[in-house]
Amino acid sequence: MSYETLLFDVRESIAFITVNRPDKLNALNDQVVNELADAAERVATEDEIKGALLTGAGQKAFVAGADIGDLAKQGPFDGKARALRGQAMLRRFETCGKPVVAAVNGYALGGGCELAMACHVRIASETAKFGQPEVKLGIAPGYGGTQRLPRLVGKGNALHLILTGELIDAREAHRIGLVTRVVPPGELLASAEQTLRGILSMGPLAVRLALEAVDQGPEMTLDEGLLLEANHFGLLAATEDMKEGLTAFLEKRAPRFRGK
Ligand code: COA
Repeated sequence: MSYETLLFDVRESIAFITVNRPDKLNALNDQVVNELADAAERVATEDEIKGALLTGAGQKAFVAGADIGDLAKQGPFDGKARALRGQAMLRRFETCGKPVVAAVNGYALGGGCELAMACHVRIASETAKFGQPEVKLGIAPGYGGTQRLPRLVGKGNALHLILTGELIDAREAHRIGLVTRVVPPGELLASAEQTLRGILSMGPLAVRLALEAVDQGPEMTLDEGLLLEANHFGLLAATEDMKEGLTAFLEKRAPRFRGK
C-alpha cells in the first residue's frame, strides 16, 4: 500500500511513522486509520523492522483526534464499525511484538491520546497537550480511551479527564503517569529515537515476552500472571540470547544479541 496521509520510512531497523495532515492537525480520518492499520501490520510482520516511532507532522499537533467531519456523518452502525476499525488498528500496534514509541509533539486529543496510549512508551514535548474531549461533542471515547486511560493513570484521573474533557499539559501528563518523559520540543525526536535504540540493543526475545506479559498480565488473576511470567522466564532460559547476555556480563563486555 502506498500512503497519502502517512510518512513511513525505515532507517536502521526503525519504522519512522508520521501522521501527515498538518493542516487538519493530523486528525484521524478513515484513510489515516486504514493506512495506520497497514503500517502496524508492516511493523508486526517485516523482519527488517525491529521497532517503530510514531509522531505527528508539524509543530502543533501529534493527532488532534478522530476527524470530526467523518464523525458528523455517521449513524449508529457505521459509528460502531468505525470504533472497531480504530480499536483494531491500535491493538495491532500494541501487540505487534516490537517496541513502539510515541513522540508526542503537540495536541494529543481524543483519538490522538488513544493512539499514544496504544504505544509502549510515551515521550512528550514540553508543548504537548493531552485530553479526551469527546464529551464536549456529545460522544464518548471510541478508540480505547475508556479502557487504556484508567489502566495507565488510575480510574480517578481517567474519569476526571474523560468526564470534564479538560486538556492537560505535558507536565501534568507526566505527573499522573500518562507519559514517562518530557523534553524540550527540539529534543523530542532525538530523545524518542535514543530511547527506542536503547530498547533495540536489549535481547529482542526478552523484550517481546516482557511486552506480552505486561499486556496480558493485568487481565489475569495474580497467580495466572505470575505463572505466565515464570513460563516466559523459563522459555528465555532456552535461548542463545540469555546465554550471551549472562556470559557478556561475566566477561565484562557488551552482549551481541541475535534474537535466537
Ligand atoms: N477533526 C477534524 N478537523 C480538525 C480536528 C479534528 N479532530 N482538529 C482540528 N481540525 C482542523 C480544524 O477544523 C481546522 O481546519 P480548517 O483550517 O480547515 O478550519 C484545522 O484543523 C486547524 O484547527 P483549529 O481549530 O483552527 O486550530 P486551533 O489552534 O484554533 O485549535 C484545537 C486547536 C486542537 C484546540 C482545536 O482544533 C480542537 O479543539 N480540535 C478538536 C479536538 C477534539 O475534539 N478531538 C476529539 C475528536 S473525537
